[in-house]
Amino acid sequence: MFSSRIKWDMKTNQLAQLLEEKRHAGIDLLDLTESNPTQAGFIYPGQEILGALSEAQALVYRPTPRGLSIAREAICGYYLERGFPLDPDRIHLTASTSEGYGYLFKLLADRGESVLVPQPSYPLFEFLAALENVELLPYELLYLHPGGWQIDFDSIEKALSDKTRAIIVVSPNNPTGSFIKDNELAALNDICARSDLALIVDEVFGDYVFESGSRHVRSLVSNESILTFVMSGLSKIAALPQMKLGWIVTGGPKGSRDEALERLDLIADTFLSVSTPVQYAAPLWLKLRSTMQTQILNRVRDNLDWLAARTSDSPCRLLNVEGGWYATLEIPRYFSEEEWVLKLLENDNVLLHPGYFFDFTREAFLIISLLPEKESFREAIERLMIRIGGITK
Ligand SMILES: Cc1ncc(COP(=O)(O)O)c(C=O)c1O
Repeated sequence: MFSSRIKWDMKTNQLAQLLEEKRHAGIDLLDLTESNPTQAGFIYPGQEILGALSEAQALVYRPTPRGLSIAREAICGYYLERGFPLDPDRIHLTASTSEGYGYLFKLLADRGESVLVPQPSYPLFEFLAALENVELLPYELLYLHPGGWQIDFDSIEKALSDKTRAIIVVSPNNPTGSFIKDNELAALNDICARSDLALIVDEVFGDYVFESGSRHVRSLVSNESILTFVMSGLSKIAALPQMKLGWIVTGGPKGSRDEALERLDLIADTFLSVSTPVQYAAPLWLKLRSTMQTQILNRVRDNLDWLAARTSDSPCRLLNVEGGWYATLEIPRYFSEEEWVLKLLENDNVLLHPGYFFDFTREAFLIISLLPEKESFREAIERLMIRIGGITK
């Protein structure tokens, strides 16, 4: 009766089961997986945010595939402030970046064709691709001490085939926090030009920067040499995931860019998924982003500094992180990641994501959200360090 797109085991895993039991028992947990900014104790200018939804013009429905120009121009204003002038006609609004991936997979790949995706990275890709019948093939990001994360170009060459249609880049990446560097972009542009591939670039964390090295590419919206789709949205930029507004900026050589824009029009016109009040509210919400970004950056920087200090003389290694909301901690391999996260939840009431959730190719890593409030963050790390320090094998 059902399609084969939904092919995942629906049974809950051991971690989810234990979590359910703890929550059911009313036990207070320290959650180091928190990635929802609306539940992390930040102060939102609530009246202004909600007030923006009462624009009278929103009573009229004027459907357009790219979205209302008032919202697209505000997005151009955002890029201009970052030093990237942009034509609003290159923008398609979407309800989220996730929907943007869906549009791009529909645009670029037929059933069974493939898209290359970084590993480790964001776990939702598997679902987004399967729902569009697109095959995902991983390419690796390597951690080379002390330089940090870099793209393994051999793994890209190995994964490429005549069925490959695009390469995904997440910059900064979730969870590694690594930006793409200018030499990597040059190499990716060469590969894409040679094999007639598009670049899909996810920059949702692009405003959250810890370390701005001169080689970091801050945005690919001005990447002109190959067909390039850059996605972002309010969920991270303005810390408003519930408002459901993302976008795709299409760039590249004029011919292929214009054709892509027209084809995207057709896809977007089929769904018209962004609500009118949200489009009218977007200019103000984008303006308010600095209030939210300042709070978030202070929080994540403070937590990261504290984590670095607390782990510096320990059996753990904090990997270098350049941006985003997460840190990666390499922990002793006395146990598997699965065993570690179960122990920490069972005994210490601390919830963490294991590296394998993000397709790390080896063990043992924990992914730590830097969003939690200072007190609970520090308490959770303290419990983690005591648990790790208390175990010798
Ligand atoms: C790298 C990355 N891209 C996209 C998203 C989803 O963004 P949206 O809420 O716009 O779908 C996330 C959410 O955590 C993410 O980590």
